[in-house]
Amino acid sequence: GAPVEVDVGKLAPGEMMTAEWRGKPVWVLRRTPEMLASLEKTDDKVTDPASEEPQQPDYAKNKHRSINPEYLVAVGICTHLGCSPSEKFKIGAESGMGSDWPGGFFCPCHGSLFDLAGRVYKSMPAPTNLEIPPHQYLADTTILVG
Ligand code: FES
Repeated sequence: GAPVEVDVGKLAPGEMMTAEWRGKPVWVLRRTPEMLASLEKTDDKVTDPASEEPQQPDYAKNKHRSINPEYLVAVGICTHLGCSPSEKFKIGAESGMGSDWPGGFFCPCHGSLFDLAGRVYKSMPAPTNLEIPPHQYLADTTILVG
């Protein structure tokens, strides 16, 4: 499939949009400073905090799993059996996920939890972090996926 250009210039902090690449949903989440700070709290709860899995692009091998910390670019497909995880961005009790929920994603099929960098929690059915697709920045808010 051809690379896809994604304009993220209209995304407000805390918002997510979905593009399509090779028939897959590609999420772009513009993380607020609070969302980025939540990654400190999930570091010891996730299986692969520095995203060292070999199939990840080099620029995903860090805590925030992105080129620019502000933007998470990830394939929105659960790495277990391919369901669509839901956004659970609200932090704390308001999330409906418990008062210590730091924000992330929840897969309704078998209950896998991911943080706001798509890092999978320990002991979940999903074996790996959400996939980061190959991508690059053509400009500050223009991303080429593929
Ligand atoms: Fe997501 Fe099974 S498909 S937990």
